[in-house]
Amino acid sequence: MLRVGVIGGGQLARMMQPAAINLGIQLRVFAEAENSSAHLSATAVGDYLDPAALLSFAKGVDAVTFDHEHVPKHLLEMLEREGVKVRPGSAALIHAQNKLFMRKKLASLGVSQPIWAAAKTAAEIEDFISKNGPEIIVKTPIGGYDGKGVRVVSSVQEVQDWLDSISDFGGELLLEQKVPFVTELAQLSARRPSGKIKIWPLAKTVQVSGVCSEVIAPVSDVGDQAKNIALTISEGLGVVGVMAVELFQVDSGELFVNELAMRPHNSGHFTIEGSVTSQFEQHLRAVLDLPLGSTGLNAPFAAMLNLLGQDDSNTMQPHFSKAMDLVPEAKFHLYEKAPRKGRKMGHVTILGDEPNTILKRANLARAAIYGN
Ligand SMILES: Nc1ncnc2c1ncn2[C@@H]1O[C@H](COP(=O)(O)OP(=O)(O)OP(=O)(O)O)[C@@H](O)[C@H]1O
Ligand SMILES: [Mg+2]
Repeated sequence: MLRVGVIGGGQLARMMQPAAINLGIQLRVFAEAENSSAHLSATAVGDYLDPAALLSFAKGVDAVTFDHEHVPKHLLEMLEREGVKVRPGSAALIHAQNKLFMRKKLASLGVSQPIWAAAKTAAEIEDFISKNGPEIIVKTPIGGYDGKGVRVVSSVQEVQDWLDSISDFGGELLLEQKVPFVTELAQLSARRPSGKIKIWPLAKTVQVSGVCSEVIAPVSDVGDQAKNIALTISEGLGVVGVMAVELFQVDSGELFVNELAMRPHNSGHFTIEGSVTSQFEQHLRAVLDLPLGSTGLNAPFAAMLNLLGQDDSNTMQPHFSKAMDLVPEAKFHLYEKAPRKGRKMGHVTILGDEPNTILKRANLARAAIYGN
């Protein structure tokens, strides 16, 4: 029996479960807590910074992959030295872990990206603001998620706290021009170790306060540009598994890479119902070096809305009855996470012929499940 080990027990590991069950693949999850989102598959609970625990988990599976990007490089390399198939491998994964590594690598590959610089000092930040301001984006190169670690600033004072603890972020901050994008897009792809790549139709994403709120697919007008960027990066970095490239589209139609994720991604949740092969199934296939499935769509359009925590008490399930009654065509997903304001608690997907109609219906379902 094929066995895949996932480090991290979040919703991404959780959503690999149905795909693994269908394929008869044994999924084993190394979770950080007993009550993780992926608890049904958790065969180990511990600290992923503990080398011995990590190795003993990894020795029991055919390939190790990830729910998050936080396992440090030296531990990934240790696993690789021990003969574990780490997928994606450390040499690729560091570009999803560290946004400065990513910027440097993409520059060397000639991929179009925002104007950027690394900064260690207030003077360097001031200089970048004077050249690219009045507003710029400052990012912590490591450890950011859901917009944490991203600030729009027009003065050094606004990131003084980050400068004061700069060693926590690898000793440098990432500065970027504030891109005047008209749309944010995400290009999902998957690559197996032998080099074969599959690309899904391009998706449009909408972020609210730095967190993904809405995804609609496909968007076609810049399809080839996005596809070529994904191919260049996937091959250039030797990615194995699913990769999402987050993109900015500006007025002229040109695309700029925002960041990379080397695992199933929020922008690809629509593929569960919307695509012949979901990103979760494809990830399992890719990390096991199995032939990749078709990425064709099951309907002309798919809309996916995130269900974000409203407060500390709304688990959302009590509103199933109303929401399901109101929007029977909606597919609901909840991640069994304790409610907290702004937390990704689940998502809802609707397929259909017309993007605005399904978006409206998905919004109705979301409002109902929020209790409105
Ligand atoms: N250079 C930029 N110019 C304009 N807007 C930006 C820029 N960088 C980031 N943003 C905005 O901030 C959001 C979050 O940025 P980014 O994707 O780098 O952060 P993150 O916390 O790693 O995100 P994620 O939720 O994908 O993990 C982007 O989706 C975009 O809306
Ligand atoms: Mg992002």
